[in-house]
Amino acid sequence: ALSPALIVSNLLSTPINERSSDPSSSSFPSNFLFGTASSSYQYEGAYLADGKGLSNWDVFSHKPGNIIDGSNADVAVDHYHRYLDDIDLMQSLGVNSYRFSISWARILPKGRFGGVNQAGINFYNNFIDALLLKGIQPFVTLHHRDLPQELDDRYNSWLSPESREDFIYFADICFKSFGDRVKYWATFNEPNMQVSYGYRTGILAPGRCSWPFGNCSDGNSEIEPFVAAHNIILSHAAAVHIYRTKYQKKQGGSIGIVIDTQWYEPISNSTADKLAAERAQTFTTKWFLDPIIYGKYPAEMETILGSNLPKFTSNEVEHLKKTGLDFIGINQYTGYYVQDCMYSPCKPGIGSSWTEGLYLTSSERNGVPIGESAGAYWQYVYPQGMEKSVLYVMERYKNIPMFITENGYSDSNNPNFTTEEFLKDFKRVKYMADYLDALLRSISKGADVRGYFAWSLLDNFEWSLGYTLRFGLYHVDFATLKRSMKLSATWYKQFIAEHKVKA
Ligand code: NOJ
Repeated sequence: ALSPALIVSNLLSTPINERSSDPSSSSFPSNFLFGTASSSYQYEGAYLADGKGLSNWDVFSHKPGNIIDGSNADVAVDHYHRYLDDIDLMQSLGVNSYRFSISWARILPKGRFGGVNQAGINFYNNFIDALLLKGIQPFVTLHHRDLPQELDDRYNSWLSPESREDFIYFADICFKSFGDRVKYWATFNEPNMQVSYGYRTGILAPGRCSWPFGNCSDGNSEIEPFVAAHNIILSHAAAVHIYRTKYQKKQGGSIGIVIDTQWYEPISNSTADKLAAERAQTFTTKWFLDPIIYGKYPAEMETILGSNLPKFTSNEVEHLKKTGLDFIGINQYTGYYVQDCMYSPCKPGIGSSWTEGLYLTSSERNGVPIGESAGAYWQYVYPQGMEKSVLYVMERYKNIPMFITENGYSDSNNPNFTTEEFLKDFKRVKYMADYLDALLRSISKGADVRGYFAWSLLDNFEWSLGYTLRFGLYHVDFATLKRSMKLSATWYKQFIAEHKVKA
């Protein structure tokens, strides 16, 4: 039998259609960040340890029916207690950066309506120091889906303008406590997904449902996702303002936001389908980045939603334009075909998004899939989407520095597989190789991309899909919590060693 290393090297010497022969595309800029990404709720566990408050996800995951396998992340991968071992794993990969989020309820158990939990501050201080000791730059997300339940109980968190005060209170504490050592801050992770799935289809916390094409019966207003988004956009701007005025000069870091970009390929060459693919960008990427960078919602959203789209006051517009951001974080995993539903009759029910009135997404064109299916029901392997998404963001937002803040491959957690079988994750290796290659192509075309974070260091808790998926470079036995190196970890380590360029 071939050794795993040989299999990987054979795999990578096989010609891949997408690979370019341009030699300039084979190098990353100097000081490029190579890392892995994670989030507090998905990793930490210790959900009530040392004074942590209940988060919305603690509550949501404990409600029967919300998580597909009936699980929760009370323990998750116990990163809270095992972080030193996990940093050793990072060190052995040779990464120079690590993306993680701060558990808001660990720092502020009751939000701004209670005190600061010093044990929470200590945990992140120790973690950050331990990372830096190993030469690993912390890349910190302030809000990655989990917030103190108190804020939902009081006024449904993001549905209330009060949430802006909550967020800046939390952000200020984080900048003050950790900003001497943290040089990369992301305010929000994938707010576009968070509001669509938290307030429309109800599959993420807080589980509110207003999907006209689904079977939602809780009677919430369809405009909730837009209200939540509006408050998030203004919270982002307010936090950036605080960072710029109180901390940035002294601390010398940068601040941005992370958005999810799936690539939308028109299903045909018709003008209607091309417009629909652009409309899909409007209602995902541009929904957040346009106001944050240009101070206004995309015109198409205004036309379609009319008075259902919240408005920015003229002061807010000025404020948004002035604060902006320093970088755009891009999460890129998959691609879909898009079919028009606005000018063409199309059958609601086939697609998977609320936007059925506007467009349908499909994984196939004339029976041919856009790419191989991965473990997650939503994931199709479409490496070209990495290049296309990066170039799209580069063009629309004037090549503001970008980071690939997440990219990764999901295996389904097949109960019949042995650990050994999970460790031979050839498909993940091929996925990463092809996506990184596509990323290099975008860089060779001028995209200012400064880092890449693989999702994820470890197998972990995948939100409403619980432990049914595995995204890790390291396998985690969910019963014993033992970590084991997969082939993809060996491969990534080698890739980093070959591509890391120092200034
Ligand atoms: C996006 C999210 O930021 C992360 O939390 C999630 O686990 C991965 N994608 C995989 O779905």
